[in-house]
Amino acid sequence: MGQKHSAHSTQHLARIQRLGAALDKQTTGDKRRRLLSAKRKTPSADCGVTTTMNIAALWDWAVDELKTVGVDSPRFTAELLLREVMGWSRAQLLTRGAHIVPDECEERYRGFIRRRSLGVATQYIIGRQEFYGRDFLVTPAVLIPRPETEILVELTISALRDRVENMPILDLGTGSGCVGLTLAAELPQAEVTLSDVSQAALDVARENAQRLGLMDRVLFSQGDLFGAVEGRRFVAIVSNPPYIPETDRASLSAEVLGEPEGALFAGEDGLAVYRRIAAQASAYLSPGGLLLLEIGHGQGAAVSDLLAQGGFPRVELFRDLAGKERVLRALLA
Ligand SMILES: C[S@@+](CC[C@H](N)C(=O)[O-])C[C@H]1O[C@@H](n2cnc3c(N)ncnc32)[C@H](O)[C@@H]1O
Repeated sequence: MGQKHSAHSTQHLARIQRLGAALDKQTTGDKRRRLLSAKRKTPSADCGVTTTMNIAALWDWAVDELKTVGVDSPRFTAELLLREVMGWSRAQLLTRGAHIVPDECEERYRGFIRRRSLGVATQYIIGRQEFYGRDFLVTPAVLIPRPETEILVELTISALRDRVENMPILDLGTGSGCVGLTLAAELPQAEVTLSDVSQAALDVARENAQRLGLMDRVLFSQGDLFGAVEGRRFVAIVSNPPYIPETDRASLSAEVLGEPEGALFAGEDGLAVYRRIAAQASAYLSPGGLLLLEIGHGQGAAVSDLLAQGGFPRVELFRDLAGKERVLRALLA
């Protein structure tokens, strides 16, 4: 990650920024008109009544605040957070500029904007992130799921979709559970073990499993890599492990550095966790089992070598839409 992981997150942010830039253009012209505050008092979803500040004025205040500290896509970010506070859709927000914001909503919103200005990621503020069409709860105990990781999931699903027998699958380093829980949701014959060294991360994954109604087909196991699943065998091991080189730390944004250390860094060269996975994975796979790993751009050759040494002579490399190395798929010999 680093150059690599920041590409990981950069791509994700770029998508949000493009949306934000389009929105900024579209709405700036309306600013003066929307600032004409109607002095009506309007009840909101959950925040009670009163105050004299309307939606348009509060939104513009937030955009200025976020601009001042250099937050990307300030209007879009301000919109997302305002929608969250009001419990409104985008269309509702855009057509209700004159609505008076209740005091508690305004206070909560100002708190959100303050935290975002201090570099807290929007997803940690609103507490969730969409992944493969589902909402996942996120807290600062887990990595924010990235859209690029959907490639790892997609490749696993297409490799296993036609199998009919019960399929034990391991999601190694599950974080929010986004990878393993998506596999459980998409593959009805899968029984997925979600493992992580962090109990706090597993607690978030468990909450996500409950919300998604998947508790009957998932297991949770805390431990250091394969130490969490001693003596077990899987038809597939899937992992998006930490892979940022320590040497890239200085180049990371405040938002990325707000994610758990243990989810980001993997030694000086970023390969420390791959070394261990490659050396041990064959002992935890059934004959013909699959190992799928997300990798950072530029790590493909080094990780393929490690896998060859670990008993995986045939390794395929997949790139993301930006042409960057993203996933390795290896079949146990
Ligand atoms: C890059 S995050 C990926 C999280 C999630 N799978 C995703 O794709 O969003 C890596 C995860 O691996 C976990 N992890 C790091 N080192 C580990 C280890 N030695 N054993 C087990 N899990 C580990 C971290 O706690 C973190 O949740």
